[in-house]
Amino acid sequence: MSGALAVEVVTSPEQLDAAFAIRVTVFVGEQHVPLELEKDADDAEPGTVHFLAFLDGTPVGAARLLAPPAPGAAAHIGRVAVLAHARGRHVGTALMRALEAETWRRHAEGVWPRSERDEASGTDSVRIELSAQETAVAFYQRLGYVVGGRRYLDAGIWHRDAVRTLTGPPSGLEG
Ligand SMILES: CC(C)(COP(=O)(O)OP(=O)(O)OC[C@H]1O[C@@H](n2cnc3c(N)ncnc32)[C@H](O)[C@@H]1OP(=O)(O)O)[C@@H](O)C(=O)NCCC(=O)NCCS
Repeated sequence: MSGALAVEVVTSPEQLDAAFAIRVTVFVGEQHVPLELEKDADDAEPGTVHFLAFLDGTPVGAARLLAPPAPGAAAHIGRVAVLAHARGRHVGTALMRALEAETWRRHAEGVWPRSERDEASGTDSVRIELSAQETAVAFYQRLGYVVGGRRYLDAGIWHRDAVRTLTGPPSGLEG
């Protein structure tokens, strides 16, 4: 089954509501994460970028990108969620690549500055971190993330840290 797939940065309160609704359906409804943990202070941080994925114009996926906490630090991807009926159609992949492209663009344009050490060495790489639910580890590995060995509980769900270093814009999503 095919469908027109698009990912957009959230720019309106209505889109943000749609992103939250998807997250609540997936994390609270499906995975039983308490609502007060699902939505947190990072959602309202000025540097946080929210994303929506659409299939044939209908929102089916969401994710958020947290700004690096300091120059040169890693950006953080989180709350990656695709509605159950839309899974397996590369919506999650499209979301991840869009978040990576946005991360690269923000570094390239100086919105998220590099560290003084990176500036001095001319290093042109960008690190992205995320906290992967163990059931989604293989999804992230396929996308090039290196998953750590230590497991920990967050909201009652086993997680592992994962990281990817970009050395250029994600292919096909430079625009
Ligand atoms: C994990 C999730 C975001 C993946 O979204 P999706 O749109 O189904 O993923 P895609 O279709 O882009 O998958 C890309 C590939 O990874 C595989 N894949 C997807 N989820 C996987 C998983 N949990 N384990 C192993 N492989 C997986 C797909 O089969 C696909 O393989 P293919 O390229 O051979 O077709 C989605 O299943 C989801 O929302 N799960 C519930 C919430 C969740 O766990 N989020 C992650 C929090 S850390």
